[in-house]
Amino acid sequence: MFGRVKPLDAILATAEKKSLHRSLGAFQLTMLGVGAVIGTGIFVLTAEAAQKAGPGMMLSFVIAGFVCAVAALCYAEMASMVPVSGSAYTYSYAVMGELVAWMVGWALILEYAVAAGAVSVGWSGYVVGLIENIFHIDIPDLLVRGPYDGGLVNLPAMLIAGLVTWLLVIGTKESASVNAVLVAIKVSALTLFVALALPVMKMQNFEPFAPLGFGGIGAAAASIFFAYVGFDAVSTAAEETKNPQRNMPIGLIGSLGICTIFYLLVAAGVIGSIGAQPMLDASGVGMEPGSRELAAQCASISDQAVVCSKEALAWTLREIGWPQIGNLVGLAAGLALPSVILMMMFGQTRIFFVMSRDGLLPESFSRIHPTYNTPHVITIITGVFVALFAAFFPVGLLANISNSGTLFAFAAVSIAVVVIRRNEPKRHRPFRTPAIYVTAPLSLAGCLYLFYKLDPKSQMLFVIWAVIGLVVYFAYSRSRSHVGRGLVEVHEEDADVPPQPVPPID
Ligand code: ALA
Repeated sequence: MFGRVKPLDAILATAEKKSLHRSLGAFQLTMLGVGAVIGTGIFVLTAEAAQKAGPGMMLSFVIAGFVCAVAALCYAEMASMVPVSGSAYTYSYAVMGELVAWMVGWALILEYAVAAGAVSVGWSGYVVGLIENIFHIDIPDLLVRGPYDGGLVNLPAMLIAGLVTWLLVIGTKESASVNAVLVAIKVSALTLFVALALPVMKMQNFEPFAPLGFGGIGAAAASIFFAYVGFDAVSTAAEETKNPQRNMPIGLIGSLGICTIFYLLVAAGVIGSIGAQPMLDASGVGMEPGSRELAAQCASISDQAVVCSKEALAWTLREIGWPQIGNLVGLAAGLALPSVILMMMFGQTRIFFVMSRDGLLPESFSRIHPTYNTPHVITIITGVFVALFAAFFPVGLLANISNSGTLFAFAAVSIAVVVIRRNEPKRHRPFRTPAIYVTAPLSLAGCLYLFYKLDPKSQMLFVIWAVIGLVVYFAYSRSRSHVGRGLVEVHEEDADVPPQPVPPID
């Protein structure tokens, strides 16, 4: 099972050939992380977390943030040692062999493509809310929500996924300056929200703190984990980082730290200002977010609860008497969320690209467009799937499915980092995970815990996805693998993809 390992030195040879300019400092890395992280999670899933945990979602943010922090420390060591494309897939190939790598790559499809779908649905919620409020119109739910959410098809979500696909096909990459502007927009929107919501906070809104018990808090943590996903973008920039031993942990932990603080303040603002108690069914059980029952219950109270909102922060601001600022926050989300979709889809296409280059996926996937110089085939295939996910599924389910894949990849990295410490203790490590024998097991345990707390539907879909992955591997990929056919050298020589998803630096 572990037989087919891709030699680490062959992987590193690729990186050496590319030898990127080391230009990123701690600040830029942190901005890169914040840019990739803040998105649908905080803007939209806050409502979902409230439905699962009530005010206890404050703790959910801390739990999910902690798991990400320990996983980030493991990522940082791998990224500094194997600073090439493919992230967790590549690390696993070098350490745990082809089958594990394949499964990680297969799970990363969930992480990236499904997450792009989730962020598209989140974007749609804000933009639809904004248009409805500005023009005082009511767009029929049938056209702006999926079938599980009281609608038929989410057209705006499909539209944005299509638009981002087109941008990627013509070779758009986010530059550091665009990223900085978008980070400023997101951070300003969240700051504005906190500044207006916290002063009207009432302590009684925090009671009862955990209406659905610790089980609810854990389940909300498993969903809200999505809000932190994306920081791995920082670890893939290892090769371009000045003094990675110092700057990589600052970038990873710094961006996570900044996001955690904002998330806690925003959550406190939502809970304190308007309350965030979950909707319960007749037997006192919390209704499932994204279910038809909850949609019906919300419709019966004209969506007058934050747990019903598709644009939780804008809705809260309108409720506390700041309708224009609510629209402004909606506009900020409308402007900034597409860049998160772009980052996710970019990541997806590059993972596919590397897998196809390794022979595990059809070679046609890595075909490059003659004019735009982008892997257009795989970008369009990805885009079609993202648009379909976005059209028909509720944001919470997509986020949870994406989390299942991400947790699998994080768990694999947590194991890989320990295995390679043991197998190759002398290899140069620009960054070493501190207290690795505590950090890595904590990360693994945290990932397993969050996976266990995901809803059964997402867990089941993950298992089905994994089984399909195994079938594809044994039916197709295994016999075509370049490593399996002894083609590593040839393959490494034509390895010329830029590492991702690192924006070019101005
Ligand atoms: N963390 C990103 C978001 O919340 C994926 O949108």
